Amino acid sequence: MRQILLSAAALAAMLAAGAALAQTDPVTARKEGLKRMQANLEAIGNVAKDGGDTREVAPRAEEMVTFFRGFPALFPQGSDGNGSRALPAVWSDRDGFERASANAVTAAEALRTAAASGDAAATGAAVRNMGGTCGACHRNYRGR
Ligand code: HEC
Repeated sequence: MRQILLSAAALAAMLAAGAALAQTDPVTARKEGLKRMQANLEAIGNVAKDGGDTREVAPRAEEMVTFFRGFPALFPQGSDGNGSRALPAVWSDRDGFERASANAVTAAEALRTAAASGDAAATGAAVRNMGGTCGACHRNYRGR
């Protein structure tokens, strides 16, 4: 009996450790993701500026669509510590924050369409529009 209890405790500890490993903290997850989104935006912008084949970078726009669809979920209640620059408004003005996220999704979808079409000028315009939605959210929801 004692043996069984011990192994149940050991199993619980192993499960907890596994869950902690599998689930990065949300602040790290969103920062890493946002750095990657910035790299995506720059890469697409460079191809567009050079008049290159924007179809090759369309998957980066696709990644942005997916990322921003899941963006609000990366800001759970209480995830304002741990070096986060997120302003309290992320949680106190949740509707506005979700609207700003939705605007980024819409812009990323337009960027994906433009990139997939191979039209470098249209892609350049879509990159600028996308960048506008990044800045609009940062103004209200990101501190310095
Ligand atoms: C809906 C709001 C929102 C949108 C849209 C948004 N951001 Fe941000 N961004 C934030 C917030 C909030 C933070 C601060 C996150 C933190 O420190 O917890 C942030 C932080 C960042 C950071 C700093 C990451 C770090 O390592 O500290 C980068 C880079 C960044 N954003 C790039 C972008 C780019 C590029 C876009 C558009 C393609 C974008 N963001 C769109 C809200 C947004």
